[in-house]
Amino acid sequence: MSSEYSILPATEAEISQIAELERICFSDPWSEAVLTESLANPYYRFLVATDGAEVLGYAGMFLTLPEAQIANIAVAPVARRKGIGRELLRALCNAAQDAEAECIFLEVREHNLGAIALYEGEGFGLVGQRRNYYSNPTEDGLIYVKEIL
Ligand SMILES: CC(C)(COP(=O)(O)OP(=O)(O)OC[C@H]1O[C@@H](n2cnc3c(N)ncnc32)[C@H](O)[C@@H]1OP(=O)(O)O)[C@@H](O)C(=O)NCCC(=O)NCCS
Repeated sequence: MSSEYSILPATEAEISQIAELERICFSDPWSEAVLTESLANPYYRFLVATDGAEVLGYAGMFLTLPEAQIANIAVAPVARRKGIGRELLRALCNAAQDAEAECIFLEVREHNLGAIALYEGEGFGLVGQRRNYYSNPTEDGLIYVKEIL
């Protein structure tokens, strides 16, 4: 794996690799069909971090203006703690700003401490908690928001 990577719009050719990462990273993965649909959705921003050969990470966001809602963000286990998740998150924040969104929401499992540290480090603040929102395992969902100035 090269340490060089670019953040680019996702393409159909990358969907099978993204679906594989979904299965590795989440207990309730999006299917290839749902991922392919989201590529075609004009209100969805879908980015990958790629070294040209492999997808190292990806992130997606619904633009439901005046809000944006991050739907997924994941980095391949071998590529973690190198700043790729942070760069993907910043790229989504920039896309939300370009679209003139006022704020960005996301939801995270209450015990996902790594992701929570990432979000809080990028200026997201806790605004709510949904009891038992997640299954496999059952867990509360924490709702975070970042205002776009
Ligand atoms: C969460 C995730 C996307 C982070 O990706 P990443 O590329 O490893 O994150 P980065 O290297 O950009 O980390 C940026 C900062 O976030 C925090 N962070 C990230 N992972 C962390 C961890 N496991 N433990 C503690 N802090 C962590 C740190 O502050 C880190 O900065 P540092 O490395 O300088 O200390 C990745 O762990 C992942 O794919 N997890 C599985 C899927 C998932 O849970 N997605 C989020 C769903 S809401």
